[in-house]
Amino acid sequence: MGLSCGGKGFLPLLLAATLLAVGQARTLVVGGSEGWRFGVNYTGWAIQNAPFYINDKLVFKYDPPSESGYAYTVYSLPYLGNYVSCDFRRAKLLANETQGGGEGFEVVLSRWRAYYFASDGGDGYHCKDGPMKFIVVPAPRRDD
Ligand SMILES: *[C@@H]1O[C@H](CO)[C@@H](O)[C@H](O)[C@H]1NC(C)=O
Ligand SMILES: *[C@@H]1O[C@H](CO)[C@@H](O)[C@H](O)[C@H]1NC(C)=O
Repeated sequence: MGLSCGGKGFLPLLLAATLLAVGQARTLVVGGSEGWRFGVNYTGWAIQNAPFYINDKLVFKYDPPSESGYAYTVYSLPYLGNYVSCDFRRAKLLANETQGGGEGFEVVLSRWRAYYFASDGGDGYHCKDGPMKFIVVPAPRRDD
């Protein structure tokens, strides 16, 4: 009798601890110590840091525009086609050229969809040749 009583309390406790671990959202600085700049392969970064889950946070950190360089921005592109061709006509500006300073600009991956991120600097040059673009598809958490 005593044993079954103890068992009743133990199992829910163990389950709750497991769900908590799985449900922990991450905060990731895009590009790690490199931040968000020209010349970093962000597809490689995304692959290294996969899998992403819903409610994970991405932080874009970048310098404000300098006289020698183009301004960095963060855009969300609607479709894969726009992403591949770096077509910003229907893109949504998430962070302008100054919003990457300080603690950076935070994007919560709140939905189960593909996110296409890119910088539009230099009339598409950053996106095409940087290549300042990457895709993440956050997966639902086990407890969602
Ligand atoms: C970036 O890294 C990915 C994955 O490692 C690779 O497939 C791709 O060719 C790289 N892109 C460039 C422009 O180097
Ligand atoms: C960037 O956005 C911030 C916050 O909305 C705003 O205060 C600032 O004026 C904007 N900068 C430019 C260059 O548009």
